[in-house]
Amino acid sequence: MRVRFERVTKRFGAHTAADGISLDVESGECLVLLGPSGCGKTTLLRLLAGLEPLDSGEIWIGDRRVDQLEPARRDVAMVFQNYALYPHLSVFDNIAFPLRTRHVETAEIDRRVREAATRVGLADLLARKPAQLSGGQQQRVALARAIVRNPTVYLMDEPLSNLDAQLRLQTRTELKRLHRELGTTMIYVTHDQGEAMTLGGRIAVMRGGRIVQIGRPLDLYRQPVDTFVGTFLGSPPMNLIAESRQGAVATIGVRAEDIVISPSPLAGGDEGRVLVVEPMGSETLLTLEYRSQRLVARVAADARFEPGQAVRVRLPDDRTLTFNADGTRIGTAGRQVHEP
Ligand SMILES: Nc1ncnc2c1ncn2[C@@H]1O[C@H](COP(=O)(O)OP(=O)(O)O)[C@@H](O)[C@H]1O
Ligand SMILES: [Mg+2]
Repeated sequence: MRVRFERVTKRFGAHTAADGISLDVESGECLVLLGPSGCGKTTLLRLLAGLEPLDSGEIWIGDRRVDQLEPARRDVAMVFQNYALYPHLSVFDNIAFPLRTRHVETAEIDRRVREAATRVGLADLLARKPAQLSGGQQQRVALARAIVRNPTVYLMDEPLSNLDAQLRLQTRTELKRLHRELGTTMIYVTHDQGEAMTLGGRIAVMRGGRIVQIGRPLDLYRQPVDTFVGTFLGSPPMNLIAESRQGAVATIGVRAEDIVISPSPLAGGDEGRVLVVEPMGSETLLTLEYRSQRLVARVAADARFEPGQAVRVRLPDDRTLTFNADGTRIGTAGRQVHEP
């Protein structure tokens, strides 16, 4: 189902957590809300779920206006960071819980719980209590409890943040598969740019209760509207280099993988010096001194560089962005790139 926020504002005292937000989520899409802690991501989900009243604006699911409806009548399922499982209930009963409160028939509950549990790989663990499960398994119980309701929209609030790094990657892939299989609209909240890039059909980058930019992951990565989006997406973040031009100060942005480094003084470009070499296995990160500033460049894993080494540094014109003093993008320094 399509979800629409129309000029939605929500204040907590003097603080505006959602500042006139308009957002159109397509039916079946996985839209990621990405931004730093406190920017209003959870608030948007809670407004949509009906856990929080809005001050002004409208929220629509399909052709129904829902912002004045009881939470139970909105037909959305939310998965929280802390899972919120019932410790005294078995896995089966935890998953069955939302069906029981809706007085679904016993045989139907049994069928739907087993189907949801199978989808997330919990079919053999239905008799266990949450305390007898790993963090990853508990997280999957929370997912199954959302799936069993067959809602029109899934709301995921940082569902992977309590998992360790390896499990987080694995579960991220699982979630992507699950979303494809279910084909249901999903709004996924995270402060992790890697999760946003890999999961999102589109990403809405938020800051201070507003949406700064919305688009496909690679479009945002390549064409950020400002330095905030440019540095929030990508690891390492986009390099920013201060530059004086015709009396005005501008900022040049360049991605680590777009910097061309050569050990040869004949290579052209400008002078630089290697400060730190960090082999990552699949690639190597070099921290460089360049025009008295620091840059991080990504080079091939087998490239040989030493700390202290003098190198030539080239920032290809068609791979750099220029930003105003206030951080908004002016255009590319060289060739103009088409807007998405
Ligand atoms: N119930 C509340 N009472 C007062 N302030 C709140 C409440 N909920 C959220 N806020 C404030 O609103 C802002 C946005 O919060 P939140 O939506 O939780 O951010 P995020 O999920 O992006 O970290 C924060 O400054 C937070 O302190
Ligand atoms: Mg939050």
